[in-house]
Amino acid sequence: MALKGPRPLLFLTLVLLAASLAQLSEGASYRQFVTRHFDSPKTRAANDRLYCNRMMQSRGLTRVFCKRRNTFIHAPAGQLQAICARGGTHVRLNLYDSLESFNVTTCRALPRSRPGHCRYRAAIGNTKIRVACAKGLPVHLQPTYLP
Ligand SMILES: *[C@@H]1O[C@H](CO)[C@@H](O)[C@H](O)[C@H]1NC(C)=O
Repeated sequence: MALKGPRPLLFLTLVLLAASLAQLSEGASYRQFVTRHFDSPKTRAANDRLYCNRMMQSRGLTRVFCKRRNTFIHAPAGQLQAICARGGTHVRLNLYDSLESFNVTTCRALPRSRPGHCRYRAAIGNTKIRVACAKGLPVHLQPTYLP
């Protein structure tokens, strides 16, 4: 097949679109969203760095490899669910921005972190968040506004 004219570009666009949609729905379940991103009230720890070290492990995000980056949201589950309805504004596709701002903690793996020795630095913030919704529930957290 000769790749000439505008069609290959259209084809490429469709492939990229399909790939990004697949990424959005990858492991897309509310249960997984809760495991990865919900912590309210915020679990107590001596400091945010220790909070990250402990939480990343207890939520199973350090098993196969040290997940490089993950954000925990400190807001009631009802407020997070509401983002997919009255508590959010539609952005595009299945993405919604929260109307409210939430306290969040973002954990980033330090260099030379290894499973069994995953170490994190923490960044806190108060921000609105962007989520992907499926069947009216948040299933994926976008990095858009996160610290
Ligand atoms: C958000 O965090 C600030 C300080 O970091 C705290 O004073 C405030 O009470 C928190 N808000 C909520 C709703 O938890």
